[in-house]
Amino acid sequence: MENKTLAKDAWGSRLGLILAMAGNAVGLGNFLRFPVQAVQNGGGAFIIPYLVCFLILGIPLLFIEWSSGRFGGKFGNHSTPFILDTMGKGRLWKYVGVFGIFTNIAVVAYYTYIESWSLSYVLHTILGTFEGMSQTQVAQFFDDYISIGSSTTGIPFEPIVFYVLVLILNVYILSKGLGGIEKAAKIGMPLLIMFGIILAIKALTLGESGKSIQFPDASAWDGLNFLWTPQYDSLLNPKVWLAAAGQIFFTLSVGMGTIQCYASYLKANDDVALNSISAGFMNEFVEVVLGSSIVIPIAAGFLGLDWVLENAGFGMAFQTMPFLFQQWGPVIAAFSGIFWFGLLFFAGITSSLAMGTPWMGFMKDEFGWGMKRGAWSFGLLALIMGLPTVLFYHHGYFDEYDYWAGTVSLVIFALLESILFSWVFGINKGWQEITDGADIQVPVIYKFIIKYITPLLLLLVFIGALVTPHGNDWMANINNLLSGHSWELDDSSIIKKLSLYEYKNQLMEAKTQLDREVIEDKIFYSNFARIQLVSLFLFIVLLVYYANTRRTKLFTK
Ligand code: ALA
Repeated sequence: MENKTLAKDAWGSRLGLILAMAGNAVGLGNFLRFPVQAVQNGGGAFIIPYLVCFLILGIPLLFIEWSSGRFGGKFGNHSTPFILDTMGKGRLWKYVGVFGIFTNIAVVAYYTYIESWSLSYVLHTILGTFEGMSQTQVAQFFDDYISIGSSTTGIPFEPIVFYVLVLILNVYILSKGLGGIEKAAKIGMPLLIMFGIILAIKALTLGESGKSIQFPDASAWDGLNFLWTPQYDSLLNPKVWLAAAGQIFFTLSVGMGTIQCYASYLKANDDVALNSISAGFMNEFVEVVLGSSIVIPIAAGFLGLDWVLENAGFGMAFQTMPFLFQQWGPVIAAFSGIFWFGLLFFAGITSSLAMGTPWMGFMKDEFGWGMKRGAWSFGLLALIMGLPTVLFYHHGYFDEYDYWAGTVSLVIFALLESILFSWVFGINKGWQEITDGADIQVPVIYKFIIKYITPLLLLLVFIGALVTPHGNDWMANINNLLSGHSWELDDSSIIKKLSLYEYKNQLMEAKTQLDREVIEDKIFYSNFARIQLVSLFLFIVLLVYYANTRRTKLFTK
């Protein structure tokens, strides 16, 4: 059985494909990352750049990746190294394609960790753990949970147990092939949308009923108004554009290699235009409509907009929501908790499953590995990469992965693949691939956008991230430069991040021995995380090199 290839090397139905693709895109990013990005970038100031990025970056990249995938599939390639190799003329494209496997393994390593928090929180909600807890106690519970040391249910090392459990679940579904993924999407997507709609209705009807003596000004409407009052001046702020582009990448899962892999299982004349747009818009509905209607209005409704602006962050979903749900009484709190963390879990797992497929596709294409072997080896790699993020979460391990694999890699890969598609493969051939079998008339303007605008914008995004100016103040730094001063880099620029400048600076300014030790610790673990990431990348490079030699030998025989 082991050597049998994917039992069904094609999608079972169009609905299954769209739901799987939408499940790939709809993820933790829609509910956790989007609201935080929107709040941190000025609410209504964020929305216009975000929507523009969707139209001129997101949709073109969806077209590029779907059609590249279907093209590669015609030659029996199901992962980016040899999909890109088939499209490009040079020898190096297959190594660019390494990103499309690397990113997934690195991202899944920490992504499944958050998935495991959601699963554990569903259980804790059912067990009534949060009942009667104050906000500080709920926040403390989360801190204790991620610090591994103290167990919350009596199970030793609960986070590790849940993490491994979630990995095994992913591996199990993956080992069932495309059919397993389709089934998970058909169950997970409708459920998460239903949970999302119920919570959004609850949030949208909260109004001012949540205000308290401590927060007399709280109103859910303030949260919504803040997000939905457009501010046109942000159009001139590159920082907001960078954040908007980053969110579009993450949420649509473009620049990752998963879309190409899923699309490589299409038939040669299957539509890519309408399918890609449908999956993309489904993701945007879940992100823009549901993602913005839950955490922010509920938090603003109970704690006020000022609190939200000060505390917006990733932990809000785990550190605050279980407490806020309690304000609705124990029964609704239990349902809301199950819906919220269940929604996060389904959103997460339909995305993490996608991340397993490029590796499995590659190992099958090149080395004939069957589904089980492919899935378990993926799980093992994810575990090797992920366990340190669980154990050293507090030491910055997680952040290193998220920054290099979940952010920078996506932009680099998308930039290179868009150049390949339009300029090496050729936009005319590319356009043919997009429109062949299309069930809609693709607006011809997209031919121009894909050739010029998308690569240019990607280049600008990359340069913008590489040399982000001090204080993210582009205008002041450009003026500075024009008046003969040097360009001062921000600590968040890729160049400064590379040298761990921020930590080194903090080390110089540290006042106590304890502070110094904490920062030295962060430097140590950040370097460790980077070694792991580089090793993973090189490991895949070697595999691609070896696979290519085998192909050459077979070809010359
Ligand atoms: N696209 C996935 C998300 O939004 C990765 O979480």
